[in-house]
Amino acid sequence: MLRLRNINSFYGNIQVLKNVNIEISRGEIIALIGANGAGKTTTLMTISGLVPSRSGEITFMGKTIHNMRPDRIVLLGISQVPEGRRIFSYLTVLENLDMGAFLRTDKKNIKKDMEYIFDLFPILGQRRNQVGGTLSGGEQQMLAISRAMMARPALLLLDEPSLGLAPLMVRQIFEIIKKINIENQTTVFLVEQNANLALKAAHRGYVMENGRITLSDSAENLLSNENVRKAYLGL
Ligand SMILES: Nc1ncnc2c1ncn2[C@@H]1O[C@H](COP(=O)(O)OP(=O)(O)OP(=O)(O)O)[C@@H](O)[C@H]1O
Ligand SMILES: [Mg+2]
Repeated sequence: MLRLRNINSFYGNIQVLKNVNIEISRGEIIALIGANGAGKTTTLMTISGLVPSRSGEITFMGKTIHNMRPDRIVLLGISQVPEGRRIFSYLTVLENLDMGAFLRTDKKNIKKDMEYIFDLFPILGQRRNQVGGTLSGGEQQMLAISRAMMARPALLLLDEPSLGLAPLMVRQIFEIIKKINIENQTTVFLVEQNANLALKAAHRGYVMENGRITLSDSAENLLSNENVRKAYLGL
């Protein structure tokens, strides 16, 4: 479904991604783990077209997307949930969800999709008229995921969904991510510092160090890999 081939991304003249190769098949949950500053967010931003890659190739469902505008990439079926959530604080839950559907042309299905969202996250249904900024951190993360889902993505990019949330909330969010993957056949590319959690939810994973992919394997093998356990699982 998605293939990154020898991707090199820069901020100005500082190179962050170095010959990154990643492949994701339809229906998978893939985890990208790595330390602070490894280049995980930059990888997602490069896929979304927000950071240009200077060389290499990205294809999505057979189309070359690495020179495409971000809004075209969303229309092709890729939605990103940014790190730190970035919901619209002054808009209500409903208005935030509407914004997620902004580029859609099938407006008549939007209401049905909102009902699906409120089924996944009943608390958002109860708080549909509350402004985003007054939601709890966990509810904001739910809203950020929901807003991305309103674009009906084939591929959902999630940047640190567990960041700053209490363990119970984190577990709940991850259950929903798995549910979205199974029920909706949404492919998920998940960036996490919480490697344990991410690898338990994922089918396969990639390890990134200093802008390079240094390891890729099944989630199961990564969880039992001695180096991964020492470096990322604190074991
Ligand atoms: N807009 C920017 N301009 C310049 N450098 C940047 C910019 N954004 C990120 N960087 C640098 O690129 C490198 C990779 O950052 P990135 O945000 O991709 O890391 P990350 O793996 O997501 O880290 P974290 O786990 O802390 O979120 C870092 O050294 C960072 O300082
Ligand atoms: Mg990041």
